[in-house]
Amino acid sequence: MKFFVDTADLNDIKDLAATGLLDGVTTNPSLVAKSGHANFIELIKEIAAIVPGPVSAEVAATDYAPMLEEALFLAKIAKNIAVKVPLTPAGLKVCKHLSEQGTMVNVTLCFSAAQAILAAKAGATFVSPFVGRLDDIGENGMQLIADICQIFSSYPNFTTEVLVASVRHPQHVVQAALMGAHVATIPPNVIRQLFAHPLTDKGLAQFVADWKKSGQKIL
Ligand code: E4P
Repeated sequence: MKFFVDTADLNDIKDLAATGLLDGVTTNPSLVAKSGHANFIELIKEIAAIVPGPVSAEVAATDYAPMLEEALFLAKIAKNIAVKVPLTPAGLKVCKHLSEQGTMVNVTLCFSAAQAILAAKAGATFVSPFVGRLDDIGENGMQLIADICQIFSSYPNFTTEVLVASVRHPQHVVQAALMGAHVATIPPNVIRQLFAHPLTDKGLAQFVADWKKSGQKIL
């Protein structure tokens, strides 16, 4: 299972890339605005140089022609750019165009299995179902992941990877892994939560204390 970090914050990206556990990055217009970075293109360039895996950069236009123009421009920033397009008719048309020319595409804002099937048919590299936002409105985000994984497994010609997005807590990640989702894009604080267990802290404190008592040294 691949882990992407869902942020446009360069400090978080550098910090988490140093763990060696990061396979990619997803950004979106809201995350870019939150980062406070003044130049989107420079920001994406910097991120793509830090993390060798796919870096999602999202188009801003909503109509087909300007969206395609932006998408072609974003794709040229670096070899590891995945152009992110919304799950709309225009977005899927752009997705088809880009995937046919070998550019990675992440189709975002997916909230139904029907939409995920369309993204796969358009040749998306990734489709991003937003689990947290479905949970927020009283629906079952993880059930959507289960449905999409099941559907895709029946069609070997669908090469689209299920990228679980809008992750809110470690259980979303664990459930996504149990369902066989290919990727989870995870906010930095949730990635850090994945490391944590009180028994790990307690056990380590005990080992450190006992080692000190033993008076021994490794080096
Ligand atoms: C996905 O690519 C999006 O950037 C993201 O996961 C959205 O998450 P949110 O619902 O926490 O904004």
